[in-house]
Amino acid sequence: MAGNEKKELKCRNCNSKTHFILDFGPMPFANNFTADPSINGYAYQLRVHICTSCWLFQIQEQPPAAKMFNNNYPFFTGLSKFMKKHFEEMVVDAVNEIGLSTEELNVLEIGCNDGTLLSSLKMRGIRHLGVDASSNVVERARQIGCRAEIAFFSTRYASEMLSREGKFNLIFAANVVCHIDTVLDFFTGIKVVLDSRGKFIFEEPYLLDVLQKVSYDQIYDEHVFLFSVTSIRNIISKLGLEIIKVSHQNTHGGSMRYEIAHKGSYKVDSSVAELLKMEDIGKLQNLETYSEFAHACQTKKNELVTLLNSLKNLKKRVYGYAATSKSTTILNYCGLNNEFIIAIGDSTIEKQNKVTPGTGIPVISIEELRGQNPDYIILFAWNHFEEITAKEQNSSLKKAKWISLVPKIEIVEI
Ligand code: TMP
Repeated sequence: MAGNEKKELKCRNCNSKTHFILDFGPMPFANNFTADPSINGYAYQLRVHICTSCWLFQIQEQPPAAKMFNNNYPFFTGLSKFMKKHFEEMVVDAVNEIGLSTEELNVLEIGCNDGTLLSSLKMRGIRHLGVDASSNVVERARQIGCRAEIAFFSTRYASEMLSREGKFNLIFAANVVCHIDTVLDFFTGIKVVLDSRGKFIFEEPYLLDVLQKVSYDQIYDEHVFLFSVTSIRNIISKLGLEIIKVSHQNTHGGSMRYEIAHKGSYKVDSSVAELLKMEDIGKLQNLETYSEFAHACQTKKNELVTLLNSLKNLKKRVYGYAATSKSTTILNYCGLNNEFIIAIGDSTIEKQNKVTPGTGIPVISIEELRGQNPDYIILFAWNHFEEITAKEQNSSLKKAKWISLVPKIEIVEI
């Protein structure tokens, strides 16, 4: 584990000096669910910085990629029906807009996970390839008949795949680019395999939403960056790529979809200037914004700890719903263990009968959770609020009080 000093950080994009914002303390890997409660697995110090030159928001230290993305990655996109529908619509819109025939299309997805998005392409008979660093999820994609390879996408990999796959006229990535610390090498690879009239469409949690909703749990080892339109523009402009369109999405508590192309190949949509203006209004290029965010995170931590302390004193039975990667940041930053939260229910079989990273809270199935009669349930998957509360309308969990975390800590009825 790193020391406690605020280490300097050079920006991963432009090599300029960055400004330290906040230290969330020692953290384990967000997805390191283990069967042995004695393993706390602290691996690194979670500190965030902002580059005052290109305004790229980034964590100071990211554990080695191979330790996070391997043959045991416990996240499967397809578990959310809402996200399945979202990706189906994303594919349909992109295919319609690019206006190429099925035979002409050659599509790549980076970070294809279990093939949820690829299956929309496969269903339409569109030539596709998925790439993901975690072998267990690639296996799932293959099981549903999608073409997928195990690899970290990089310039080297892109150059190597070019001769066998050709150029791609559509490239997708969803909640993936923010995981890759070698961001310049990544976009250079995109340039190598993107057709001259191709589009790279990716979406990521949006910095302005995180700052405004104080959803600090979007910050964890895998999310090395939180992007804005400003920072993406600053990263890709020197590579001869440009943003041609942006659209805000409601997924993951507020995401941005970026459409990127070779410079000059498409007319730039007015949405790009509109969003850049909104980021100016939101003062994304002002250090005060980030010190206010740091202060708001500390306040939110104190609120949650105070609430859970009082529920503990009242001997209330508090549980969690969804052992998300995000919850690892909250639980460790707020020092919450099984003295505060009895267990967390999650639908991912790979997480069940294990404990939460660092804090040792048991993860149980949703069925087990329903049988426990909780007084309170903390909804850690606040980004799936509608889907989850709809699912629990007729279950025993409806009579519990639910604690929602974003945008503010609140007790709600579902
Ligand atoms: P995410 O917030 O990173 O998408 O993580 C979602 C987590 O929430 C994942 O562990 C699965 C879990 N989950 C449920 O347990 N039930 C649900 O209905 C949904 C949508 C997610």
